[in-house]
Amino acid sequence: MSNRVYNFNPGPAALPLQVLETIKAEMLDYRGTGMSVLEMSHRSKPFESIVNEAVARTKRLLNLGDDFHVVFIQGGASLQFSMIPMNLSVEERPLDYVNTGTWSTKAIKEAKALGKSVRVVASSEDENFSHIPKGIKVNPDSAYLHLTSNNTIKGTQYHAFPESKSVPLVSDMSSDIMSRPFDARPFGLIYAGAQKNIGPSGSAMVLIRKDMLERVPENLPAMLKYTSFVKENSLYNTPSCFVIYVIGLVLQWIEETIGGLDKMAAINREKADLLYGTIDRGGFYRGTAKKDSRSLMNVTFRLPSEALEARFVSEAQKEGLSGLKGHRSVGGCRASIYNAVGMDAVKTLADFMVAFEKKAG
Ligand SMILES: Cc1ncc(COP(=O)(O)O)c(C=O)c1O
Repeated sequence: MSNRVYNFNPGPAALPLQVLETIKAEMLDYRGTGMSVLEMSHRSKPFESIVNEAVARTKRLLNLGDDFHVVFIQGGASLQFSMIPMNLSVEERPLDYVNTGTWSTKAIKEAKALGKSVRVVASSEDENFSHIPKGIKVNPDSAYLHLTSNNTIKGTQYHAFPESKSVPLVSDMSSDIMSRPFDARPFGLIYAGAQKNIGPSGSAMVLIRKDMLERVPENLPAMLKYTSFVKENSLYNTPSCFVIYVIGLVLQWIEETIGGLDKMAAINREKADLLYGTIDRGGFYRGTAKKDSRSLMNVTFRLPSEALEARFVSEAQKEGLSGLKGHRSVGGCRASIYNAVGMDAVKTLADFMVAFEKKAG
């Protein structure tokens, strides 16, 4: 489709074209039901299959054992900032957090607002969140250790997770879920707003290890309790039906068209290497994240002046390269190269960067 741009938006973000085509083909009549998923009862058999299939694909892709539940919860990743301390606290055990930027800071703030005993065990704030802290200390007395696996705004990412031993890790994986394989076993809970790597906005995917459910207090409101979602297979109330349907299609694309997370990770690595290589080749572009912490999902960089950055973004837009402006809180430029952003898009961007440097540098 010639009028589609190369989409580097940070989220909501690009979806695989194949998925959009399927949505279009199934929009009026979902697989012989005579109705759209938009019109379907969430209690119907076809919708139940949509949920079950999305859950099964998630488990297969991430190699999750039977000890994990997969649920979809409205309220985005931001609601999880509150639900996690509400549900997973343990009396007399502090909640440990690593602060690597805006989203970790918000998670910490929400836990504190609930009156919890919060410890920030590591932070890169003093260096403008330009890296992932090394040697993160795991305190055996903590209820969990929370981290943000990929920092969408600053463009940093964990390339290995702390050895947590008996302390469950909890991670916000909003901007890198399903971009690479990882060992889920040390994680008590993983959450991700869907709108970056796995679908449209409107739902968070939450993976909860079964033993974590024993911590859920009885007296929480039903909509804030993980157990409500687990018991009812994400159908305690009317979920974001269409979002779950699209998530299922994206997961199908990763599994069947791409061939799984090893392949997805190799493609993502190649894309990121091309962009970082382009940034590093001269002094014109400057990557803002330290090299060992660079994100394979959000490539953040500066140009020699803000005026050149504005020109870069606007000329790129004219060439059909959209969404390259950095987050409003930090400025600069950012290319979000999630799963659905293909090598063709990244090559076109790299070529544009070289040409822009020649012209303006
Ligand atoms: C890492 C991370 N966590 C949390 C959020 C907030 O997600 P939501 O808008 O779904 O609440 C974002 C959104 O950009 C994010 O990038």
